[in-house]
Amino acid sequence: ATIEALADTVRAAESVVAFTGAGVSTASGIPDFRGEDGLWNRYDTNDFHVRRLRADPAGFWVDRLDLAEELAADVGPNPAHEALARLEAAGHLDAVVTQNVDGLHRAAGSEDVIELHGDRSRVVCLDCGDRSDAEAVRERVRDGERPPRCDCGGLLKPDVVLFGEQLPVGAMQRAQSLARGADVFLAVGSSLSVEPAAGLPRTAAAHGATLAIVNLDETPLSDRAAFDVRDDVTDVLPRLADRVV
Ligand code: OAD
Repeated sequence: ATIEALADTVRAAESVVAFTGAGVSTASGIPDFRGEDGLWNRYDTNDFHVRRLRADPAGFWVDRLDLAEELAADVGPNPAHEALARLEAAGHLDAVVTQNVDGLHRAAGSEDVIELHGDRSRVVCLDCGDRSDAEAVRERVRDGERPPRCDCGGLLKPDVVLFGEQLPVGAMQRAQSLARGADVFLAVGSSLSVEPAAGLPRTAAAHGATLAIVNLDETPLSDRAAFDVRDDVTDVLPRLADRVV
């Protein structure tokens, strides 16, 4: 009944914005951070801090090779990504704001995707800002180039936001403007625990959006959500899209 009511609300809304976290990609085989098998149970977050990259760039890159290999397995979008793409194509979703760096929303066909934490398939030069393919650089690291450097001599960094770094300003501004204008703000597969991205659902609610949360676990905003669906996104989002479209 909740999903039907949420679908009616989405269909009637003028502006619907989705905000996604690692939980939309677990069904694709990508671990989340704070769920049961989350990465932060296995990794020290200090190793993902920009301080660590600056202090020991070679070690930083070498330490990530195993994880990169695990994540490089052939992954593709799952029914949750596909449902969001379907909602957008049908004109019932303005944009997907994502904290994920896996590129799976675009792979599923979502067109307006705002990536707040970057894209792990690229690297960026810390000096000249040039971006290039990450797998080619990881190959160079495997072959012994440590740390990998840009043609300009600058240090290369995975093009993802590390702890201690700012979010990309343009992406965050766009996300905030979408949050302020949303009639329905659909937060899915995120623990909603990491600032500043997690401030977006609060901003949306403060500007009058109906807040809907789909997540296996409770979140700090669950109490404030008009719809609080504690269930699997790969089940809920396709049912929602079926009902709306
Ligand atoms: P989290 O790991 O914090 O939260 C993912 C949430 O999704 C958890 O509450 C899980 O219970 C839930 N979940 C997992 N699989 C699900 C499924 N199939 N259906 C429904 N819910 C599911 O991930 P994020 O909220 O994305 O930052 O974390 C935010 C940021 O913290 C990440 O972007 C990353 C991390 O530090 C950076 O790397 C900059």
